[in-house]
Amino acid sequence: MEIPKQIRNKIVAFMAPIVEAVNLKKTYMLGKIPVEALRGVNLKVESGDFLAVLGPSGSGKSTLLNLIGALDKPTAGTLLIDSFDVSTLKDNQLSDLRRRVGFVFQFFNLIPRFTAIDNVGLSLSIAGMGKAERKKRAKELLETVGLKDRMKHKPAELSGGQQQRVAIARALANNPRFLLMDEPTGNIDSKTAREIINLVKGLNEEKGVTIIMVTHDQHLAREAKRIVQIFDGVITSDIVNGEPT
Ligand SMILES: Nc1ncnc2c1ncn2[C@@H]1O[C@H](COP(=O)(O)OP(=O)(O)OP(=O)(O)O)[C@@H](O)[C@H]1O
Ligand SMILES: [Mg+2]
Repeated sequence: MEIPKQIRNKIVAFMAPIVEAVNLKKTYMLGKIPVEALRGVNLKVESGDFLAVLGPSGSGKSTLLNLIGALDKPTAGTLLIDSFDVSTLKDNQLSDLRRRVGFVFQFFNLIPRFTAIDNVGLSLSIAGMGKAERKKRAKELLETVGLKDRMKHKPAELSGGQQQRVAIARALANNPRFLLMDEPTGNIDSKTAREIINLVKGLNEEKGVTIIMVTHDQHLAREAKRIVQIFDGVITSDIVNGEPT
């Protein structure tokens, strides 16, 4: 049964944030030289949010995304994901957490010799789903992203935009708590980028998928509900529906 949008939003409002960062810091060591990539980030992401993270090259966007995706651990500060404090988690607990996150990258990262359906199905087989069910679910997901007639194509037989749709279907396969996208339109032309953004927007509005998307493109960022600007490792503005928070 579909819960009406208004009621869903009310339920969501009472739930704890999916992501909460308090004075989050990440310092990389380049030999003996410390590189302060994040210098105290405070951020709360609620279920159902659609965030665009904007900022110049080297400002710390991917670093922040990698921490939120439990791909890396913070140097200092607190990061709660689904109310788990990532600093206290062991490696196997971190990989459990990672399984609940959907990742989409600039360069699609699809397996070249696999068809679209098998690329999507792979993450389901890792999650232990049987073959018939996997196929059914992969087909549904590819339909959701508008690739009904391209299921048997391999990545090289698909356009950049279509490959990114496969990557989005794959990211959604295990019903992630949120989608993390690092420059998802960075490698496709502007018209196709717009189509991808419309797809992402639809996933957020119609299916309630929580999305954090890094982009360089101010026009695309405006399609998000919330724009977070990051500069030199700190958040310099956070705007929701056109209003500063
Ligand atoms: N593994 C690493 N070792 C050392 N320094 C790193 C490492 N990864 C990133 N950095 C540095 O941390 C800073 C932030 O990098 P990050 O990749 O987060 O930037 P970004 O905002 O994603 O940039 P871009 O828009 O170019 O992708 C940069 O100064 C970068 O050089
Ligand atoms: Mg980056």
